Amino acid sequence: MYHVRKAVLPVAGLGTRFLPATKAIPKEMLTVVDRPTIQYIVEEAVASGVRQVVLVTAAGKEAIANHFDYSYELEAYLQAKGKRDLLEEVQRVTSLIEDIVTVRQKKPLGLGHAVYVTRHVVGREPFAVLLGDDLVDAEPPCLKQMLQVFSEFKGPVLAVQRVPKEEVHRYGIVVGEKVGDRVYRVRDLREKPRPEEVDSDLAIIGRYILIPEIYDYLAQTKPGVGGEIQLTDALAALKDDHPVYAYEFEGTRYDAGDKFGFMQAVITFALKHPELGPRFRQYLKELSQKLS
Ligand code: G1P
Repeated sequence: MYHVRKAVLPVAGLGTRFLPATKAIPKEMLTVVDRPTIQYIVEEAVASGVRQVVLVTAAGKEAIANHFDYSYELEAYLQAKGKRDLLEEVQRVTSLIEDIVTVRQKKPLGLGHAVYVTRHVVGREPFAVLLGDDLVDAEPPCLKQMLQVFSEFKGPVLAVQRVPKEEVHRYGIVVGEKVGDRVYRVRDLREKPRPEEVDSDLAIIGRYILIPEIYDYLAQTKPGVGGEIQLTDALAALKDDHPVYAYEFEGTRYDAGDKFGFMQAVITFALKHPELGPRFRQYLKELSQKLS
């Protein structure tokens, strides 16, 4: 079966890189123009055919599930006040995804562990993992591109992009051999290696299509880099028994988990916004003249 109906979104992290902004709100609720970052991720999943979203959450993260839930009071209020446009926008978010499940990650034991705790909800079928820190501006959406590769190569697919050598220590790095247009068969993969440890600049970004066998490997995975159970380590074991593929997606990825990347995303998405875009472009032009 090469349909992917379920997407796991790990959202249990504390978001310390954005303190103090994230002291009382989840980092996934920080706004890029007019929506929280998590909404972009859910929209990508839904546009790629996903029918169920599995949020891996922790205490203090309730706002994320609430964002996609029905809010009777708010809708009744907007209705009574005749605020049709806002009501439609709110209803659009509510109806984005019908089936949304939350699973608690009781301890912050790493990305591999966050995926592992979804095993009973996902069951024995292929599924996607999307990390909220990576916003991808692409058409077709990044996950949809990956699904094409999945149905062609019939094995797990990791989205990758080339990064400068001095940045390889921030990512899972793939060593692979080219087997198709933008597609590599994974020979080796390492989580956050030192530049001299790998001869590759193909970095995993936060999009994965996985097969249920990954749960069996995650069950055996010992803590790795940072003392955490790493998804990359489980994939490194999986690839010896099941071919794993890396796909250099078409599009631009923003690291919204980093202040600078977040600002780049805000500016780019504002420029593309149907209502705000033209005015914002004019403003940036005037601003750059003042700065030069
Ligand atoms: C995680 C993964 C890493 C991947 C990265 C992409 O790391 O462990 O392999 O390259 O996401 O954003 P994190 O950024 O959560 O430390």
